[in-house]
Amino acid sequence: MNIVLFGPPGAGKGTQAELLVKEHGIVQLSTGDMLRAAVSEGTELGKQAKTVMDAGQLVADELMIGIISDRVDQADCTNGFILDGFPRTVAQAEGLDVMLQEKGLKLDSTIEIVVDEQILFGRIEQRAKETPESERRADDNAETLKKRLAVYHEQTAPVLPYYEKKGNLHKVDGMQSITEVANQIAGFLK
Ligand code: AP5
Repeated sequence: MNIVLFGPPGAGKGTQAELLVKEHGIVQLSTGDMLRAAVSEGTELGKQAKTVMDAGQLVADELMIGIISDRVDQADCTNGFILDGFPRTVAQAEGLDVMLQEKGLKLDSTIEIVVDEQILFGRIEQRAKETPESERRADDNAETLKKRLAVYHEQTAPVLPYYEKKGNLHKVDGMQSITEVANQIAGFLK
């Protein structure tokens, strides 16, 4: 089972992906986590990505498509994967289609988690408060969140009609409890 989770920053993509991993034994492919790992390891990718991420902007499409393509080839993705944070632009969605076709794979479900903006600010503020200083994300502050949201509306929201036209985009009310959101997603995946 191959799934894409869409949603603005703080919508709950990572939270729901972790639950799906436990439920279905498939792999979470979070591009944000991959980039943060590269930043903390100080790799060349990490050095390039850090400035972009701290500014709330997006890392280059070709880089991200390459990272996902390599990752999907790894053995642990055989049973399926959840794309969390990818694709984030129409170019990434098109690149993903080409990549999946070349690998003989397909997406089974694309899910958008819908949450009002003022709730997102509350969630990100809360996450920043609860995270120890050393582990706090540099982009988890109100000023950068505004930029991340603007980027989401400009560059990621246009990806949704791309999948709507294919007829397999499901919308989930992400303002319910974590369990209720998970149950709604489970309903779509049946
Ligand atoms: P990324 O790490 O993907 O961040 P994001 O999309 O901004 O999403 P978040 O991780 O902040 O939120 P989430 O939706 O996963 O919510 P979560 O479950 O954590 O990307 C970071 C950066 O990397 C980007 O800005 C960009 O620079 C770069 N990048 C990444 N992918 C890229 C790509 N493909 N192309 C180019 N650049 C890329 O939940 C948030 C909080 O809310 C948590 O505290 C959680 O406990 C809580 N919560 C979750 N659900 C609920 C609920 N139902 N009720 C109450 N609280 C809830």
